Amino acid sequence: MKLTVKSVSRVALVSTLVAAATGAAVLVASPASAATTLGASAAERGRYFGTAVAANKLSDSTYVGILNREFDMVTAENEMKIDALEPQQNQFNYANADRIVNHARNQGKKVRGHTLAWHSQQPGWMQNMSGSALRSAMLNHVTKVATYYRGKIHSWDVVNEAFADGSSGGRRDSNLQRTGNDWIEAAFRAARAADPGAKLCYNDYNTDNWSHAKTQGVYRMVQDFKTRGVPIDCVGFQAHFNSGNPVPSNYHTTLQNFANLGVDVQITELDIEGSGSTQAQQYQGVVQACLAVSRCNGVTVWGIRDSDSWRASGTPLLFDGSGNKKAAYNSVLSALNNGSSTNPTTPTSPTTPTNPGGGCTATYSAGQSWSDRFNGQVTVSGASNWIVTVTTSSPQKIIATWNTAASWDSSGNVMTARPNGNGDVFGFTVQHGGNTSRPTVSCRVG
Ligand code: G3I
Repeated sequence: MKLTVKSVSRVALVSTLVAAATGAAVLVASPASAATTLGASAAERGRYFGTAVAANKLSDSTYVGILNREFDMVTAENEMKIDALEPQQNQFNYANADRIVNHARNQGKKVRGHTLAWHSQQPGWMQNMSGSALRSAMLNHVTKVATYYRGKIHSWDVVNEAFADGSSGGRRDSNLQRTGNDWIEAAFRAARAADPGAKLCYNDYNTDNWSHAKTQGVYRMVQDFKTRGVPIDCVGFQAHFNSGNPVPSNYHTTLQNFANLGVDVQITELDIEGSGSTQAQQYQGVVQACLAVSRCNGVTVWGIRDSDSWRASGTPLLFDGSGNKKAAYNSVLSALNNGSSTNPTTPTSPTTPTNPGGGCTATYSAGQSWSDRFNGQVTVSGASNWIVTVTTSSPQKIIATWNTAASWDSSGNVMTARPNGNGDVFGFTVQHGGNTSRPTVSCRVG
């Protein structure tokens, strides 16, 4: 009989003799300190693991038992929506939302706020409004709710689902959108003023696949917000998957590219229809994608048991209707326990800090890429009169820049970038001619 030890990168190991499928005995090592709940394991990776909670289920002991044991982040499934909190204009009803927030906080859990501004779930009085009256009412809602919960919310979904499905990559039509394209940034500014301690997220669905027009549209908005100083801290990926909309193979790329813009990313409403090992593998892939991106703060599943789900017939969650752990639960826990707590090297991972002693620092992060070109972004700190040198390698050519005053040497490979009065983040597009190596950047004070 041959005994093998599978190595595990944790310090303390316990060994268990198990029967392999072949009938041969195999000695398998497992981490002695492996966490046994989702929240505890995610915490060991510097992340959270959350769930959506419904206030009317807080009297169900099976539900509450799983909630208290497994999760360290809570989102109100419906109770913090506009129709729930402001059923009559300027008359707020926090009772059900408070039951969830208080339960979570009493149990030492954090809270995601969902959602301050949305075209859907508006109370009747708001649905009938338009123009400046609606804009004011929306901002009043954002300000009052974010102020009421100030200091209690880890992250707010400030704006939910504002982009259109399909190939346009543009905004969704709605009464809020018709108040002017700046309604989203206005909501973010109001939320920041009301609760400066909460992370402010844009949250949407069907933004998981990097090549989808909707993903690109949201990316461009976040890029624009970061460039112009609109206070956005994070992007939420709802992640509602099924066989027609499976977990994309480029999920990690999507999360990393958004993170490279300088925002956190969060998986906010995960559920995956299906069963057995197929479902378990997809769950595992999502968790691994999050663990591979250092700015992915955590994962929230959209409910506890399959029977609690908004699409219960698709059995999309981690616990069955009786509260038993499913294969998907085991795969998520194992992905968390085996995950790395740091960001592994990836082709798109950011940061090439240079010249730290020179009075300013330039940090390069990769942006979007295509078959013939890629975008890069440089964030400068330490001085306002910076001069950044960007060096590309032949046959690369910088064909566009933004947010900088730029000039080139005679080779065309070395660009000198200076501030153009629009902040300390600038970008450029490189036509790579087959050479996709990363440009180098350095900074000096001029
Ligand atoms: O509680 C009432 C009940 O009293 C009434 O008898 C019944 C029949 O109309 O409705 C019940 O309310 C429903 C509520 O869920 C609670 O079950 C609402 O009609 C129904 O519209 C609501 O659906 C929610 C949906 O958002 C719309 O707000 C789902 O629970 C919730 O899971 C879902 O969550 C959304 C996220 O907020 C945003 N992303 C997509 C996600 C899934 O659709």
